Amino acid sequence: MEPTRDSECVRFLQWALPRLGYRWEGFRKVRRQVCRRVRRRRRDLELASLQAYRLHLERTPGEWAYLDDCCRITISRFYRDRGLWETAGREILPRLYRQGAARSPHQLRVWSAGCGAGEEPYTVAMLLRLGPNPLPDGFEVEILGTDVDLHQLERARRGVYPESSLRDLPAEWRRQAFTRTDDDRYRLRDRLRGGVRLVEQDIRREAPAGRFHLVLCRNLAFTYFDSEGQEQSLMRLLSSLEPDGWLAVGSHENVPEHAGFVRHTSGAPLFTRSPAHGL
Ligand SMILES: C[S@@+](CC[C@H](N)C(=O)[O-])C[C@H]1O[C@@H](n2cnc3c(N)ncnc32)[C@H](O)[C@@H]1O
Repeated sequence: MEPTRDSECVRFLQWALPRLGYRWEGFRKVRRQVCRRVRRRRRDLELASLQAYRLHLERTPGEWAYLDDCCRITISRFYRDRGLWETAGREILPRLYRQGAARSPHQLRVWSAGCGAGEEPYTVAMLLRLGPNPLPDGFEVEILGTDVDLHQLERARRGVYPESSLRDLPAEWRRQAFTRTDDDRYRLRDRLRGGVRLVEQDIRREAPAGRFHLVLCRNLAFTYFDSEGQEQSLMRLLSSLEPDGWLAVGSHENVPEHAGFVRHTSGAPLFTRSPAHGL
């Protein structure tokens, strides 16, 4: 069998990704992760080349679901994109507390869409406990993490991470939030895991019930999905957001202009539809 060269994989992905509703440009830099999985799949099927795998896909509609699984990019870290978390902790949370205090019950609902192995929703949990503006007494909080990948959710439930996942975290948070395991990994303390609910969900098909004050959809729809997928996800995110809520996206992502969102003045990738709220 021929080894699969990068250029061969690039050609294959440029053909296959649009057929799955993805955009090649989003995958360009992270393609090696996908190419490794595609190569493994091709080998398991005992096919000689990616050209042969392409023919196999054309003849076997069920194979597209396997390829879709191969296309999940799972890179994440705690406190990824420091500017976002600093702005959220310093400015967004106090506003949400003020708005929440005027409602009954005093509630804060957060949704992390594409939550990976929990790094993102658990960072929210840390922000609410260890950040500069902790959750006030009397507030109920719900943090929901959804992901399409069962393996990622399983890792999130385990809550044990390699040191590299923690490298962006402030040192004090790292000390307070984790214990060291015998094999030099880091276990998240139960009191931070407890408030996070994890659910299998594909944002291309559904959204959780109810509305949220903070919705995070970072390094997923606005990087990897094609324009139709982005639009559908955006509609789902919009209808899940409280009118005065905030949407967080990845540091290299943007919310389409027509959605009527304004970016936080700090430049952090935090968006609201309600500029009257002190921007
Ligand atoms: C690159 S990671 C980003 C994780 C985290 N949001 C962050 O920014 O660090 C993308 C995550 O989205 C998940 N994902 C991919 N497609 C999805 C879909 N259609 N619906 C929900 N989650 C999806 C992947 O399994 C992965 O955990």
